[in-house]
Amino acid sequence: MEIKITKTNNPKQMISESELGFGKFFSDHMFIMDYVAGKGWHNARIEPFGYISLHPASTVLHYGAEIFEGLKAYRTESGEIRLFRPMENIKRMNDSAERMCLPKIDENDFLQALTTFVELEKDFVPYSFGTSLYLRPYMFGNDETLGVHTVQRATFMIIASPSGSYYKEGINPVKIMIESEDVRAVKGGTGAVKCGGNYAASNRAGEKASKVGYSQVLWLDGVHRKYIEEVGAMNVMFKIDGEIVTPMLTGSILPGITRKSCIEVLKDMGYKVNERLLSIDELIEALENGKLEEAWGCGTAAVVSPIGRFSYNGKEYDVNDGKIGDVTQKLYDTLTGIQWGKEEDKYGWIYKIC
Ligand code: PLP
Ligand code: COI
Repeated sequence: MEIKITKTNNPKQMISESELGFGKFFSDHMFIMDYVAGKGWHNARIEPFGYISLHPASTVLHYGAEIFEGLKAYRTESGEIRLFRPMENIKRMNDSAERMCLPKIDENDFLQALTTFVELEKDFVPYSFGTSLYLRPYMFGNDETLGVHTVQRATFMIIASPSGSYYKEGINPVKIMIESEDVRAVKGGTGAVKCGGNYAASNRAGEKASKVGYSQVLWLDGVHRKYIEEVGAMNVMFKIDGEIVTPMLTGSILPGITRKSCIEVLKDMGYKVNERLLSIDELIEALENGKLEEAWGCGTAAVVSPIGRFSYNGKEYDVNDGKIGDVTQKLYDTLTGIQWGKEEDKYGWIYKIC
């Protein structure tokens, strides 16, 4: 695929790494590619980062035809720039496209877009351990008509944001509120894909949690309001009475790439990981009788994030006295070790850019 590159005349200064936060500051350029039915994807280009203009009837503005991905470019101590399992994100974006009737992208073209873009933006990959260049590929329907139908025109873009930790707590345990009113997804819906609408619908519960000092919401399944699903931006794992449990992929939770990687790493460490249904009653009982030894979330932005407290129906429960547990710490060290090049990548998960 040919990618036309137009460089900015106003290069930005990278801000101080201690001020990064998550997704607030953007690199100098953006990747864009257009799709028209019958013609396919065309006009791949990298342009200076800036506003885009949309037709006021554009499909995405009315009917939410939007999907996205999230992955990171890491800098090692020796200066290598690398991605973590990018093909997994590429495949998942095409699965999301299939569910939302958006056009798929050839895997090689997608990878080329990512690598060309990251190489151009390499100076925006921060240096400190724990920081990275967060990459956000996304696609939206862009028909200029109000009819509801499969899109005929779409736009694919990639933007990049040098980022630090997702939660202000960093690796310190976060507080998670278990939501009992709103639901995020049901089987047959869009919970298993990464579309913007899932996140829009979760904002009300997120806002409620944030008002009382909680970082995110843990969702229960939408049918029985009984089984643990996932957190707003991460999958969840628990250590209950020696057993590691994570909710099974029932079709309404996102098949996280970090989740999949954690399961492999844990099995390699000798732990048995049970992907199964876990009810809220079982979780509360384990919290009450002290059998919930550890809880953590895992995701690209969140990495491996210990959970120190849950709230459910107005009651608060501490996990491991609000401290990070041994398994969580080991998992964090191994995963970040591989990503930032401090540990050997025996799984072949690293994709070197330059
Ligand atoms: N679940 C949700 C709802 C998410 O937004 C994310 C983040 O991408 C995850 C889980 C974790 O997925 P991954 O590990 O692929 O980033
Ligand atoms: C990610 O972890 O990459 C995500 O997409 C989560 C996001 C909603 C912040």
